[in-house]
Amino acid sequence: MHKYNISLEVNGVKYYKTVDSRQRLLDFIRDDLRLTGTKEACGEGECGSCAIIMDGKALNSCLILAVEADAAKITTIEGLEINGELDSIQQGFVDEHGVQCGFCIPGFIMTARAALNSNPDLKSSEIRSVVAGNLCRCTGYVKIFKSIEKALRLEKKR
Ligand code: FES
Ligand code: FES
Repeated sequence: MHKYNISLEVNGVKYYKTVDSRQRLLDFIRDDLRLTGTKEACGEGECGSCAIIMDGKALNSCLILAVEADAAKITTIEGLEINGELDSIQQGFVDEHGVQCGFCIPGFIMTARAALNSNPDLKSSEIRSVVAGNLCRCTGYVKIFKSIEKALRLEKKR
């Protein structure tokens, strides 16, 4: 297997690493950087549990090779909190009790965060389509949608 040197920024920290040509970005994040908030459920691009924000877009990291992230700027769930203050989306899930087992939640939060970053006027009516690629096996989604709605309100106050 070929090795490649990559440099990238993750949660504001610059990394210079050597990766295998076939190593997935998800494994690089979890195993090499030890950022285990990014989850793997399906491993096939179907569930959104592994969503990260790469160069402004929410992407499923199980479908991306680490070498493809060379020179990228990445945010994972660990990078959202600033100076101990939760991101609005995280706070929305806390306030509305939107978490059951929690496995899918980082993916929902990263997907919603990317959408809100690119459209600060995101409407409640758009939430379902924004997270349409994220699957949850516990909540029935109602609490998740309420959590993101709450986050939209919190975001406007910040
Ligand atoms: S683990 Fe990547 S989309 Fe499901
Ligand atoms: S909270 Fe358990 S899978 Fe979503």
